[in-house]
Amino acid sequence: MSTDTVIHHSETDPGAGVNTRKVFIKTYGCQMNVYDSLRMGDALASEGYVQTEQMEDADLILLNTCHIREKAAEKVYSALGRLREMKKAREAGGQELMVGVTGCVAQAEGEEILRRAPAVDVVIGPQTYHRLPEALRRARQGNRVVDTEYAVEDKFEHLPTAEKARIRSRGVTSFLTVQEGCDKFCTFCVVPYTRGAEVSRPLPQILDEAQRLAEAGVREVTLLGQNVNAWRGEGPDGREWGLGDLLYRLAEVAGLARLRYTTSHPRDMDDRLIEAHRDLRSLMPYLHLPVQSGSDRILKAMNRRHTAQEYLRLVERIRRARPDIAMSGDFIVGFPGESDEDFQDTLRIVETVGYAQAFSFKYSIRPGTPGAELADQVPEDVKAERLERLQALLLKQQADFAKSCVGKVIDLLLEKPGRNEGQVIGRSPWLQSVNVDAKTSQIGDIIPVRIIGTGPNSLFAEPARDVVGT
Ligand code: 5AD
Ligand code: SF4
Repeated sequence: MSTDTVIHHSETDPGAGVNTRKVFIKTYGCQMNVYDSLRMGDALASEGYVQTEQMEDADLILLNTCHIREKAAEKVYSALGRLREMKKAREAGGQELMVGVTGCVAQAEGEEILRRAPAVDVVIGPQTYHRLPEALRRARQGNRVVDTEYAVEDKFEHLPTAEKARIRSRGVTSFLTVQEGCDKFCTFCVVPYTRGAEVSRPLPQILDEAQRLAEAGVREVTLLGQNVNAWRGEGPDGREWGLGDLLYRLAEVAGLARLRYTTSHPRDMDDRLIEAHRDLRSLMPYLHLPVQSGSDRILKAMNRRHTAQEYLRLVERIRRARPDIAMSGDFIVGFPGESDEDFQDTLRIVETVGYAQAFSFKYSIRPGTPGAELADQVPEDVKAERLERLQALLLKQQADFAKSCVGKVIDLLLEKPGRNEGQVIGRSPWLQSVNVDAKTSQIGDIIPVRIIGTGPNSLFAEPARDVVGT
């Protein structure tokens, strides 16, 4: 579920006094890290920290890291090398600069980070963010802290939820983590090791957070989990609920007009979830359902536990339930042993499904995973060539999908002001960015627009007066 985006958070509190401590959080990797960074920001806000966009202004710098592919750790170490210089300069002037490493590199490297990076004061794994303020206090007393336990207590219960004003400042769309960790053990993946076993957040906690978000003006919520459709909880009826049941319930929350979820494993797409796609107008017609490869041999070696045919049949069932659904996926090329023929199978499955959006990666050896032990690693140049061909096909499909939207009238959620006066950037049901002149509408409104053109990464639209037909 990760893309290689780097997101800088900015939530500077203009009313903050001069003595307030400032934190700069740099987020790498997937949406869950984006969510975690916000929650860490909330935890630190209750300790008096405000967030800054300027690393140079910060008294505390946190790197919230990603370990999904190679070189991530090395990138973090070189960033930490630069921070060491900054810290030395600060200390020479009698000022404090604290540095923390959080997220999956923290989990994977632990103590090693303290050994290799003298600038670092705290190393906190993804399950112990709620202990961050305490760790900072200990570090300030001169004890560097590593906390990468899989905590027994529920971190969500201990992390303060943002108050309305803070939620509001974040906009009309929001993530909401409902599940963490993964039990699938795909042979290429570090997630079961860095994020640990699957844990579902209890239903009341999720409903409470959804309610707060809605009350603060959030219109669209994306439920997050490394394996989100494995979410399980106890319903008010005492029955075990799955993600489908949860979506039906969330669809009743007043104000929440749109629901999404990511990332899903094909094996966990059950009937109830597919029915939710059929029945719920607020469940957006967009599904990120990674297949990784189109070759049965490779799928088996990856321990994906389904065949290409099974995936295709599943996509058919989902499309029967929700014909306008747009499919998104992840692909890995050059998994150990992948032959030209296997790669052709991947191109074939892409052709058959037709993706509106997709992420594709060269296989990257992750020490400690079964894939790293396999003989028959694919040479780098072969991987690069396959990736190029796959990406060309996926990009073409993405462009074709965008073109197929031209002329349609769709519901647009107005998200933020555009570059020009009167222009607004909105989100289509299929997660595309859409520019529209919508002077009389407000951010957070959902309005009918007609798509009139496509740009490189977005669509152009005009307000439509017709009946909406997405
Ligand atoms: N090498 C390349 N890509 C990987 N992914 C996960 N692990 C690896 C790896 N070792 C990709 C998968 C997954 C996405 C989040 O990242 O496609 O779905
Ligand atoms: Fe990794 Fe596979 Fe779990 Fe996804 S389902 S997080 S790829 S182990």
